[in-house]
Amino acid sequence: MNVFVPGGAGYIGSHTCVELIQAGHQVIIADDLSNSSADVPQRIKTITGTAPIFYQVDVCNKEKVREIFKAHHIDAVIHFAGYKAVGESCRIPAKYYRNNIDSALTVLEVMEEFGCKKFVFSSSATVYGPMNPVPYNEEMPAQVATNPYGWTKLMIEQILRDYAAAHPDFSAILLRYFNPIGAHSSGLLGDDPNGIPNNLMPYVARVAAGILPQLTVYGGDYDTPDGTCLRDYLHVVDLAKGHLKAIDYAMNHTGAEAINLGTGNGVSVLELIHAFQNATGVKVPYVIGARRDGDLAKCWANAEKAKKLLGWSADMTIEEMCRDTWNFTQKVSQK
Ligand code: WQD
Repeated sequence: MNVFVPGGAGYIGSHTCVELIQAGHQVIIADDLSNSSADVPQRIKTITGTAPIFYQVDVCNKEKVREIFKAHHIDAVIHFAGYKAVGESCRIPAKYYRNNIDSALTVLEVMEEFGCKKFVFSSSATVYGPMNPVPYNEEMPAQVATNPYGWTKLMIEQILRDYAAAHPDFSAILLRYFNPIGAHSSGLLGDDPNGIPNNLMPYVARVAAGILPQLTVYGGDYDTPDGTCLRDYLHVVDLAKGHLKAIDYAMNHTGAEAINLGTGNGVSVLELIHAFQNATGVKVPYVIGARRDGDLAKCWANAEKAKKLLGWSADMTIEEMCRDTWNFTQKVSQK
């Protein structure tokens, strides 16, 4: 199939494109490179032997998206394009609402013009908000986000639900990611944010590499076994494979379906630090500091629906996630 991948040069998008190509699909990437490197399509080719078709395009530009649909018969879309930093979204909310919702709506409208009816959306566990008990399941109410980034995910999920209700032959798969970490085993693709990382794993990797002096653990007094927050970390390659399953599922599905992509296990910040040190043999100096505003003590998935509907589960271990992160950090990320 021809799969259109807005945001396909990003962290999760690029790993998904590798899996799509290796499964025999043709991949057409559109990415404005606002949060990814221009050499990612070449790295995808190095890994797979096949170059994705690449357009450096802002998918809020409807005419540009039309040109892509005119040039290629698109069978399905996996939509990653969007800003994704929680803290930044609180500082520049208008940019987040404009970019994230505009890009999704633009792609959806052009899909309609060209009769493309399969949309896999990069959603997030953040849509569960602070009120639901863990482990989160897809039947739980997802109505309150705690930041503009989360609200854009909630709003786009609603747009896709309403669109699917109005177009009975349309399929929208809303993939709710938990905490993707790790990197492709080649060391050519990984999470390499610009500037100081907001997220735990890239921060740990840069401390291990001596780029940053030490890690601050945000809070050691939570109601958890070791006092640090619990998260559902899954390997980005497992997550990428989940998209492959979602595309196949969408081809014989109509309606809107939310599906968690997580391991179903909660791992603490300290456990992750220890796993990284065990997997790499590298010490990670850290201090326990104050809590970070907005953090939840516990967040992990009920992963049963993905297993049942997609035949997918996240099997790679925390140690493998740490090992592959370190391999990537040593090979590519020189920041
Ligand atoms: C994990 C844990 C921190 C950095 C975010 C988004 C979510 C999703 C994944 C997009 C927390 C602690 C972190 C540090 C620390 N992104 N931490 N020191 O916040 O669970 O989820 O990324 O979909 O939407 O909210 O991930 O990696 O930032 O934090 O102690 O320097 O690590 O407090 O407990 P988070 P994270």
